[in-house]
Amino acid sequence: MDILIVGSGGREHAIAASAAKSPKVNKIFCAPGNAGIGQIAQCVPIGAMEFDKLAAFAKEEGIDFTIIGMDDPLVGGIVDVFEAEGLKVFGPRKNAAILEGSKAFSKDLMKKYKIPTAAYETFDDPKKALAYLAGAKMPVVLKADGLALGKGVLICNTLAEAEEGVKTIMEDRKFGAAGNRMVVEEFLTGREVSVLTFADGKTIRIMSSAQDHKRAKDGDQGLNTGGMGTFSPSPFYTAQVDEFCRKYIYQPTVDAMASEGRPFTGVIFFGLMLTEDGPKVLEYNARFGDPEAQVVLPRMKNDMIDVMEACVEGRLDEIELEFEDNAAVCVVLASDGYPVSYEKGYAIQGLDAFTGKDDYACFHAGTALKDGQIVTNGGRVLGITAKGADLKQARQKAYEAAGWVTFENKYMRHDIGKAIDEAAQ
Ligand code: AMP
Ligand code: GLY
Repeated sequence: MDILIVGSGGREHAIAASAAKSPKVNKIFCAPGNAGIGQIAQCVPIGAMEFDKLAAFAKEEGIDFTIIGMDDPLVGGIVDVFEAEGLKVFGPRKNAAILEGSKAFSKDLMKKYKIPTAAYETFDDPKKALAYLAGAKMPVVLKADGLALGKGVLICNTLAEAEEGVKTIMEDRKFGAAGNRMVVEEFLTGREVSVLTFADGKTIRIMSSAQDHKRAKDGDQGLNTGGMGTFSPSPFYTAQVDEFCRKYIYQPTVDAMASEGRPFTGVIFFGLMLTEDGPKVLEYNARFGDPEAQVVLPRMKNDMIDVMEACVEGRLDEIELEFEDNAAVCVVLASDGYPVSYEKGYAIQGLDAFTGKDDYACFHAGTALKDGQIVTNGGRVLGITAKGADLKQARQKAYEAAGWVTFENKYMRHDIGKAIDEAAQ
């Protein structure tokens, strides 16, 4: 079959690489894609938000199956547009993607269906938010309701910081319309874990756990980013945690969405905090994590396309997921200055070193082709993934491979998975 992937980052490269391994797949297209994806797929110059053009392309080209990687088009309703044209597409419809698109929606859902999460209040009016915060326990977490590139969350240690936060989100509208509403949440402490799952509206299947490092600098210092590296599995995601989450979080979420008349088909990403009172949901995403996909998909033994088709056809109960008994680490090579300001357009050397090495992958996040040369084209440039027998070996291999690639202003964290691995020993 011919498939189309919508998106242009490291996550979409990882999805394309898994699709390319499927014996069912003939040709892969990616819109808009990037230079690395272009080595295994044909990139199509249509933006991820141009739903009508994408659907028209899929029809003309006879695309058999489309996979939506990114949050914006999902929340905007791309799946509904494709389905209306009779096209087969993997991802939640608009009325289910709201699970990620509105934090107020997801918090209300969890409350209604008793899914463990932090206590919260929702505000449309900054004055009411300020009045509430005056009596609230600090630290407190402020979240812009809508999509904000993972940046609409402010952890405030003092009342003064919280007041500043209300101004940032609701008055200055730093995250745009995402700040029309704001959720104020209890601050939770514990270990964070990301769990990606497949859902078909009724059944849910759990992928291997992962963890992201969101801060820009070593030791979890510096600004929040889209993610500076990931590892999988998490040593803290024990069988006991898994059992609890299956019973009280995963299946209840799918059942809740179905009960609300919003059956969820696609990937649900559960951002969990393992607190002293048990696991709680920090957030839901309606798609693979980026860069979580870069460590989870390479470890999956199933044919990814089989699993996705089963989701779309409502027969995920026929599938059991299988993962390799190993570990993977992804180190993001970024442009120095990310996430604030950085330069682009520098030539990247050393990419050939990955050819033919099964345990390694170089996923492109922000790259472009310029005069036949692959150049940097974003804050996050590449995701270097390596698999090893355990986390320590995977990390050593990922850092060795991170050294194979050079470009001007290359920046990376040096401690992806390190403290976690040591703490778990
Ligand atoms: P989110 O975009 O909702 O995942 O939030 C971004 C990050 O903020 C999370 O990965 C957590 O590290 C942190 N965070 C979100 N909600 C809370 C909370 N209630 N308590 C503590 N930290 C939180
Ligand atoms: N890595 C976090 C996310 O994809 O939202």
